[in-house]
Amino acid sequence: MVLLANLALVLSLLRLVQAWNTFKVQHTPGEDDTPALLAALPNLTADTTILFEEGITYNIFTPITFPVLNNVEVAIEGNLTYPDSIPIVQAIVADSSFPGAWIVFTGGQNVTLRGSKNPKWGWIDGHGQPWWDAQQQVNRPHGLTFGNINQGVIRDMKIWKPVAWSFSTRGSSNLHAYNNKILAVSDTNAFPFNTDGFSAGGTDMLFENNHIENGDDCLTVGNGAKNIVFRNTYCWGGHGLSIGSLGRGGAVADVQNVLIENIVMENALYAARFKSWTGGNGLARNITWRNIKFSDVPFPIYITQNYWDQGIGPRPNTSSTNNTQIQDFTFENFVGIVRDVPYVEGSCISDPCWYYVPEATGKEVAIFDLYPGTAKNIVAKRIFSRTETGAPVAVMCNSTTIENDVGFECWNGPFVRTKAGL
Ligand SMILES: *[C@@H]1O[C@H](CO)[C@@H](O)[C@H](O)[C@H]1NC(C)=O
Ligand SMILES: *[C@@H]1O[C@H](CO)[C@@H](O)[C@H](O)[C@H]1NC(C)=O
Ligand SMILES: *[C@@H]1O[C@H](CO)[C@@H](O)[C@H](O)[C@H]1NC(C)=O
Ligand SMILES: *[C@@H]1O[C@H](CO)[C@@H](O)[C@H](O)[C@H]1NC(C)=O
Ligand SMILES: *[C@@H]1O[C@H](CO)[C@@H](O)[C@H](O)[C@H]1NC(C)=O
Ligand SMILES: *[C@@H]1O[C@H](CO)[C@@H](O)[C@H](O)[C@H]1NC(C)=O
Ligand SMILES: *[C@@H]1O[C@H](CO)[C@@H](O)[C@H](O)[C@H]1NC(C)=O
Repeated sequence: MVLLANLALVLSLLRLVQAWNTFKVQHTPGEDDTPALLAALPNLTADTTILFEEGITYNIFTPITFPVLNNVEVAIEGNLTYPDSIPIVQAIVADSSFPGAWIVFTGGQNVTLRGSKNPKWGWIDGHGQPWWDAQQQVNRPHGLTFGNINQGVIRDMKIWKPVAWSFSTRGSSNLHAYNNKILAVSDTNAFPFNTDGFSAGGTDMLFENNHIENGDDCLTVGNGAKNIVFRNTYCWGGHGLSIGSLGRGGAVADVQNVLIENIVMENALYAARFKSWTGGNGLARNITWRNIKFSDVPFPIYITQNYWDQGIGPRPNTSSTNNTQIQDFTFENFVGIVRDVPYVEGSCISDPCWYYVPEATGKEVAIFDLYPGTAKNIVAKRIFSRTETGAPVAVMCNSTTIENDVGFECWNGPFVRTKAGL
């Protein structure tokens, strides 16, 4: 009996082992490796590891779109290289068949995208430097879209010089993204425009232990996002831990339950940031940024319900009395140094700069640019900062736009902590 039971167990284990398939992606030197993979994909949609092997640099000269996957792991243990020719990529992006990003996951259940722990391998090389050097912003590809997946994992991925945006998780749920590295740092004076790190769309997502050096938002939380935690992460050089932009063109926003904690922000334009467009609609509520350590940051805490495209001209006169409502925002335990020395961030290509704030002194630890009657319970507490020059830290806040104690004297003036700020 015992023997038979054991035999049955062994057989069922064997069946499990056999059922899992490992597919090694084929590589042909000098050729585009995408077509062979695309041809095999219809047979790789379940119980499969799709393996890019260590020791091989794969030529991903054309985009990859994965079909809906069920229990599939995509393991990037080799290097992937994108085309290094700008016009070739532009032509692909301009074509109506372009799937929206260079690698697109269209959906599924229990899908893992993982890289390698070997620092020499598992990199995706986007060849972004020549784009940045040429200030080329026409027909740039997005990097990876990990969309419409329930129970997804993105881990140990490494992105080297993406042309622009790295990860989007729109429409996914129950995602865990960890130990990923994005290095979008320019070797020249040219700025790596729009190299956003993670664009979190979707629900129930945990991002942790990531490392992002870039030239745009480290995190951006988009419309529809709910139950998002982003923590234990290092961000260098970018445009902050951002919610939004929301409500563009009157769109209805819905963002809820976001916790961003234990982050180091270095040499970034913003640390905690919220932006909604003038004339937007909807609600963003229950958003917390806490335990944020910052240095060389000119705008550590910045909320605007009046975002507009500064590139186009002055703030528009809106006839809409609506605005994206905001509620229950907490900024807690911020420690750091406000960059108040004269400085022009690399993304500034207009005069005034797109991030210019009229009447700001450059010494503000917090700027609350709110819209009357639409912001409730916004509090900044345990904010400890100094400026690089040693000048007193300031704030901008208009007391006619907010009723609660925001944690500091709500005025355009020095930072003076109030009861709620303790
Ligand atoms: C699909 O996968 C199965 C199982 O691994 C294999 O037997 C079959 O030959 C594959 N078919 C094609 C067309 O590759
Ligand atoms: C989910 O996928 C992993 C491989 O990434 C696999 O080991 C695991 O068995 C799958 N889970 C289920 C419930 O099938
Ligand atoms: C893999 O790609 C990265 C980024 O381009 C590069 O630094 C590394 O040297 C490559 N690995 C090998 C073994 O060529
Ligand atoms: C606020 O959001 C956090 C983080 O997602 C969540 O843990 C908490 O339950 C939410 N609180 C309310 C009142 O919705
Ligand atoms: C907004 O209105 C003011 C006052 O009527 C006017 O001076 C300004 O030019 C207008 N701005 C725009 C962008 O239309
Ligand atoms: C203002 O908000 C109301 C209620 O949500 C909506 O019905 C209306 O269309 C909005 N108006 C504009 C101009 O967006
Ligand atoms: C404060 O906000 C109110 C309402 O939007 C506005 O009328 C006023 O000009 C603002 N004051 C300052 C100093 O910006």
